[in-house]
Amino acid sequence: MSDLTRRGFVQFLTGAGVLALKVGAIGSLLPMSSCSTYKNLKKLPFIPMSPIQSDELESVDGLNFHIMARWDDIINSNGERYGFNNDFTSSVPFEGKMDESILWVNHEYLYPNMFHNRDVSYAGKRSRSEIIKEMKALGGSLLKIKKSKDGLWNIEKDSKYNRRVDGQSAIPLVAERKISGHSIAIGTHGNCAGGLTPWGSFLTCEEGYMLHFTERNSKGEVIQKPPFNWEQHFKHPGEHYGWVVEVEALTGKAKKLTALGRFSHECATCVLDKDGKTVVYSGDDKEGEHIYKFISEKKGSLDKGELFVADIVNGKWISMDINKQPKLKEAFKDQTEVLTFCREASKLVGATPCDRPEDIVINPHNGDVLVTLTNNKPKGNFHGSILKISEKDSYSGMNFSASDFMVGGVTNKFACPDNIEFDRNGNLWLCSDMSGSDMNRKTPYLPFKNNGLFFIPLSGDLAGTVHQVASAPTDAEFTGISFSPDGLSMFCSVQHPGEKSKSMKSLRSHWPDGGNSLPRSSLVQFYGPVIDQLLGS
Ligand code: FEO
Ligand code: CA
Ligand code: CA
Ligand code: CA
Repeated sequence: MSDLTRRGFVQFLTGAGVLALKVGAIGSLLPMSSCSTYKNLKKLPFIPMSPIQSDELESVDGLNFHIMARWDDIINSNGERYGFNNDFTSSVPFEGKMDESILWVNHEYLYPNMFHNRDVSYAGKRSRSEIIKEMKALGGSLLKIKKSKDGLWNIEKDSKYNRRVDGQSAIPLVAERKISGHSIAIGTHGNCAGGLTPWGSFLTCEEGYMLHFTERNSKGEVIQKPPFNWEQHFKHPGEHYGWVVEVEALTGKAKKLTALGRFSHECATCVLDKDGKTVVYSGDDKEGEHIYKFISEKKGSLDKGELFVADIVNGKWISMDINKQPKLKEAFKDQTEVLTFCREASKLVGATPCDRPEDIVINPHNGDVLVTLTNNKPKGNFHGSILKISEKDSYSGMNFSASDFMVGGVTNKFACPDNIEFDRNGNLWLCSDMSGSDMNRKTPYLPFKNNGLFFIPLSGDLAGTVHQVASAPTDAEFTGISFSPDGLSMFCSVQHPGEKSKSMKSLRSHWPDGGNSLPRSSLVQFYGPVIDQLLGS
């Protein structure tokens, strides 16, 4: 990584390079997760925990959690509700203040039985109003949050900035032509992870998009019928989903960025290149799919640019531009078709298949791009790994080297890495995502018990050691770790507790309310002496 590139990168993280950019009431836009100096951790400020199987959010002594929002909470005076299965979180300062923020939270998917509080299968018959209610529970929430004197963040319930972007919102498709006959898509869903642009808008990624509408290939042949079957009442084109959606923090104005391609986007991680263009890394979370990067055409916009896919064997980024690739010209009628059927196009140009790329972060120590590869069970990879991509010249360069950064398994204490995030002191936090059908059930996963949250120091004597700090409730995973704009507070989603409940009469989880209550995915803030010591200066 050249000095110039690294300087641009640090400026993006600190916001130093963009203080002049203001969007409405948002002041300086970016999280101050600068790691230009990082703390050399000599001793852990906690005693790590062992894996646990319980229906509680368990954590090490000194690490407490505060629930900020639960599924179905009313968030504004219009009666809109906090959606189901919260995932990615990200926040920007409000009016430049460090104790007030606009927080975005994804709502990924739902299971109809718990959602409607009656035994109904994924594909089961629901009324039109029930399907509309499901659509409105997915997408994302914008929340105005404020830190109290005791350091806890809460949603300002009456704020005009609290709003939903959901499965019924009309969202323009930013594309060279109409897609399946439309320039506006109805709704966003399957929103897994995401990103934050250098100008302070949120990126939310449509990952499990094929759950709801029929997926076709470029020839129009059906590849998959939607298991959750919203098509019993709505016939929206499947090609309208699987995109990265950009959402303005203050207004909720959204658009689908088709130039970044259509696939199961886990995340969209932005970094500024030396010339001020934005580079966005994104993985396609499916066995044998690929890692992509997008280079914006202009500063301050992701509407146009060039998409590349990784040839990891040869360390090269391959252009997905139809005018540069004769094989794409032969197979597709135009660039919009290439982008809409990215999975087909990437195979024609020789992309390297991966073991389910999930989250992507930029290592503040050296600028490396770290990609979690969660697992590939059909190939015998049960525990996953973290891949390191080192760009040769700059983020917009065409050559890189790749190697294992860390592998999952008993030695490193985690299996199936999913979301990862660096804190302001340059340490890595990792969430595991063993699926509910594997966790505590199948041999390779038994030692890990419930999904966990892990702390991994990357400098000093403890560099590279893995320590579990929290354990999720039954069937749940931690997702969407993020830090407040000053880097001093930590947010996290607790997603899908009790997901594997076969019947409403035999709920597997009652987290967080206990008793016989329905389990509710919730947004939490971790706080306490462990957070103060790890995130403090
Ligand atoms: Fe929604 Fe790839 O995890
Ligand atoms: Ca996952
Ligand atoms: Ca994920
Ligand atoms: Ca997941």
